[in-house]
Amino acid sequence: MAEMTDKIAIKQDVVTKAIKTRHYIHAHPELSGQEFETTKLITKKLLELGITPLDLPLVTGVVADIGDSNKGPTIALRADMDALPIVEATDLLYASETLGVMHACGHDFHTSSLLAAAEVLKKHEDNLKGRIRFVFQPAEETNHGARELIKAGTLKDVAAIIGFHNKPDLPVGTIGFKNEALMAAVDQFAVRIIGTGTHAAAPQNGKDPIVTASQIVANAQAIISRYIAPTDSAVLSVTHIQGGNTWNVIPSDVFFEGTIRTFDETVRQKVKQLFADTISHTTALYGQSFEIEWIPGTPALYNDTDLGVIVKDVVSDFAKYQETGLTLGGEDFANYVHLIPGFFVFIGTGTPFEWHNPEFTVNDAAFPYAIAYYVNTSLRLLRHFN
Ligand code: NI
Repeated sequence: MAEMTDKIAIKQDVVTKAIKTRHYIHAHPELSGQEFETTKLITKKLLELGITPLDLPLVTGVVADIGDSNKGPTIALRADMDALPIVEATDLLYASETLGVMHACGHDFHTSSLLAAAEVLKKHEDNLKGRIRFVFQPAEETNHGARELIKAGTLKDVAAIIGFHNKPDLPVGTIGFKNEALMAAVDQFAVRIIGTGTHAAAPQNGKDPIVTASQIVANAQAIISRYIAPTDSAVLSVTHIQGGNTWNVIPSDVFFEGTIRTFDETVRQKVKQLFADTISHTTALYGQSFEIEWIPGTPALYNDTDLGVIVKDVVSDFAKYQETGLTLGGEDFANYVHLIPGFFVFIGTGTPFEWHNPEFTVNDAAFPYAIAYYVNTSLRLLRHFN
């Protein structure tokens, strides 16, 4: 047989099948950690291709290999598969059949692209210079999926991992790329300010937690504007605040929560520390107390620069390659690249609505680019790591 090249054209029948698969998954969305039917569907389709999923201790999600690790390295291709608790407001013929659950982030597109890539690569299995691992990851939106898959052994023997996210504001045919920092580290906080409730007309008899919480929320913005260099990226948002239940009673406590997004680990620790200091000093000033809970999120997503050279070279053959900016969004693919070299790109879908919007859509014309990205990058990486 001829020498394997790493330039495989994606045929129309593969694309047509991928579109059909996506429309089915889109109509049958499942929330993070509950992707039972999607898991069954992926398993069934892989078995039809002659690919047997690995026997890993997973509740949802599928991991499967093709090729031979005696011939070379293992390269992992990752797609996420969960939907969001959003009422779909598109008029698509294949709109969600489950009220209140919607593929509003296009993970249906990611999963269908990876299934199509598996179909293409399986046909070339005998010529693969190593092994390709297909990673269908659950629970990306809740930042549990990657960590569960890692715990189950998904990264064992993997030399490098690649993934992508669709990007509505990039046109179809364009692939967005950035070396090093791409997406932010996500920290979530939940805070309770504990004062002493009293009559609204006699504040001196209590300790008003609403005034204290208000000062904390306002002053916390000075952390970003006065203590973090303008050239560094950081954001602190309080997104939910709750206290009291009527007009003439000062409540005994106030709850608020939100998120901190950063890229640099030193900046991350500094913002967290100053925020905690603001809370403890402000409450101390007014003789009140506090509780603070930190819910760890994803680390920052750093693309591997060496892989970037390879990915750029491969992708330039079939798509327009465009340098992209940082995004303060989080992406749990970061958990993989925290441990092994990896690369994550944005595949343009050129649609009017952003991620998580009830009218979000994906343009199926982007399929050939997504499938080609998985197929040709993995082939080149097998050769690179050999
Ligand atoms: Ni997403």
